[in-house]
Order: sequence, then C-alpha cells, then structure tokens
Amino acid sequence: MRSHQIAAIPGDGIGPEVLDAGLAVIEALEKDEGFALNTIRFPWGSEFYLQHGRMVKEGGIESLRGFEAIYFGAVGSKEVPDHISVWDLILPIRQKFDQYVNLRPMRLLPGLTSPLAGRGPKDIDMVCVRENTEGEYSGVGGFVHRGRPGELANEVATFTRAGIERLVQFGFELARTRPRKLVASATKSNALRHSMVLWDEVVEEVAGRFTDITLRRYHVDALAARMVTQPDTVDVIVASNLFGDILTDLGAAISGSLGVAPSGNLDPTRKNPSMFEPIHGSAPDIAGRGIANPIGAVWAGALMLEHLGEKQAAARVVRAIEKVTAEGKVRTPDLGGSATTDDMTNALLEAL
Ligand code: NAI
Ligand code: MG
Repeated sequence: MRSHQIAAIPGDGIGPEVLDAGLAVIEALEKDEGFALNTIRFPWGSEFYLQHGRMVKEGGIESLRGFEAIYFGAVGSKEVPDHISVWDLILPIRQKFDQYVNLRPMRLLPGLTSPLAGRGPKDIDMVCVRENTEGEYSGVGGFVHRGRPGELANEVATFTRAGIERLVQFGFELARTRPRKLVASATKSNALRHSMVLWDEVVEEVAGRFTDITLRRYHVDALAARMVTQPDTVDVIVASNLFGDILTDLGAAISGSLGVAPSGNLDPTRKNPSMFEPIHGSAPDIAGRGIANPIGAVWAGALMLEHLGEKQAAARVVRAIEKVTAEGKVRTPDLGGSATTDDMTNALLEAL
C-alpha cells in the first residue's frame, strides 16, 4: 500500500470545518484506491497565538519539511491582526518552501449558476498561475516616524527575473495541456514602469519558446473587466502575487461562490512540500454555524491527491463534486440553498 505523509493545519474559523470535510472525502478513497494518508494535525492559528503569543510553535514551519504535502484550512480571527496571522503562518510556508506557483482553477461547475447572466460551464473555465513567493507580498518595507503625525509606511514590491521566468514557464506549459492554448499575462506596465516592464520582457521571452501558444497581454484592470464580460476568451492567466490574489477571488465569484475555489501552492521542483487549501479565508461571519461550503477544500484535497500521484483518486473526487453540483439537490447557503457542511460532505461521500 502506498502511504503519504500529510501535515494538516485546520487553522481558524471555518478552516477546521471545511478541512474535516475534505479529509473525510479523500480518506474515503484510501482502501479502494490502495493508498493510506498518514495525517498529523497541527493546532496552529489564532487560538494558539492567544495562548503562546505566536501562531506557530517555534521551529514549527521548518518541521513541516519532512511531509509530502500540507493540507491547510484558513487563518484569521478578530483577536489577532490579519497581518500577523497571515505573515506568521501562510506566507512563510509559501516562501520557505519555495511554493512559487499558486495554481487556482476557476471553473463554473455543472449545475451551478454564475452571477454572469447567460454564462455556463463552457464559458467559464480559467486557471490562474499566480506568483507566490515575491512581488507585492515580498514583505519588504517598513515604517518611519511610527506613531507620530508624520508617520510613513512603504511596501516594496520585489520582482526577480528568475522568479518571473519560472512562474511564466509553468503557465505556458500548463496552457499546452489545455484546449484553448492561450496565456493571458496580467500586467500594469503603463503605470508600474519598473517591475511590470521587467515582467513584460520576461513574459515575451518565455512566450518565444512556446510558438504553439498564443500570448495576450492585458493590463490587470482590463483583464478583470474581461473576466466578467468575455470569460470565454480567457484560459491560463499568469499574474503577480497581488494581481493573482485579486483576480482569483473574482474568478471564484463568477464561478458561483468563493466557497468552491481550490488552490495548490506548488514547489514544482518537489524539493519542498507543496500546500493545498481553499482560496477563501476563515469567514468569521459564518464560522461555527456548520454551513460553510466545503467544496473548495475538497477540491483542494483532489489537487493534493493528484500531486501525490494518486491521479485516479483525484479524478474521482472531482467527478463526485461535479455530480453533486449537477444534481442540484444539495446546496449550501452561499449557493442559494439551506444545506449544511455535513449535508454537502455526505452527498459527496455518496457520490464517490
Ligand atoms: P473570506 O474568504 O473569509 O470571506 C469572504 C466572504 O465569503 C464571507 O462573506 C464568507 O462568509 C464567504 N465565504 C468564504 N468561504 C466560504 C465558504 N467556504 N462557504 C460559504 N461562504 C464562504 O474573506 P475575508 O472576510 O476577507 O477574511 C476573513 C479572514 O480570513 C481575515 O482574517 C483574513 O485575513 C483571512 N484570510 C485568510 C486566508 C487564508 O487563510 N488563506 C485567505 C483570505 C483571507
Ligand atoms: Mg485571497
């Protein structure tokens, strides 16, 4: 039997609710598909912070190195400032383990209704390849005159040729596996005259190696509008850390709900563990009520299985999700129904 070492970090708010659902679904396939997930849970997050003054135990992130993959819920609570929770837990994992690709499918599942009138699953099928270790989220910057009337803050976006190149290369390779053979580069080189000029140059260079793929360059604001007005003309998007973050919440929204969107934080070289999580946050407005949509976390679990080489199991999870959404009997409140997280999880288990 193949065995996989998984670190599970449920985190805060709806994180544990949806991660439990995700684990239940992927573990249900263990016997059938001949693998075993050896999952260790880490109680890190805002509650841990309130007890210990830090989000993660000392040396904790480094201790994840021995795992094959990390399965993550969400962090964020009103007791801990967001820049602390995000910068103590998620961003260091992404940076330390060089998870330079944040892969985010944005696809309207069968049976779900997009807020875009008249659009169906054929129109909305995009994937964002978001840079995940540098750019606007490099963490470079500081305060001057802190707490005084003249205080100043700067946040320095850092772009490296190597960082852009490896990301864009991944995007073009992915486009080769998809029918539309299109790459949209999210730029803003009219206003950002250094970082995005370098971005454009490197994108052009990489595009030159992929003569079978069409590159289209859009300013990020125009691309956001295009995702709404002509989503059928967008396939693979390559984007910086901030641009990709924003475009993928939009992509999730036009796919029916933030609750259905998955992501993989990948180190494609496989030197370090990759991390899989729904794209949403801890959703404090609905946490504890058992009504969070677990599809994003379950789908992220499927991305994790695929990464672990369990391709058949991964495909079965995605088919189960599609079956349940297509049937339309079980809908959580974000999809306009009244089903609970457990109802949805049970429907997925049954569909398997
Ligand atoms: P959010 O994604 O948590 O919630 C935005 C809206 O979407 C809320 O109305 C929420 O109820 C809804 N929603 C999200 N996931 C859902 C699901 N699975 N089912 C049904 N509805 C769902 O974003 P928000 O409100 O901006 O942030 C809340 C906290 O989460 C903050 O502390 C923030 O820093 C943190 N956060 C953490 C992330 C992570 O752990 N990767 C990502 C984004 C935000
Ligand atoms: Mg986000």
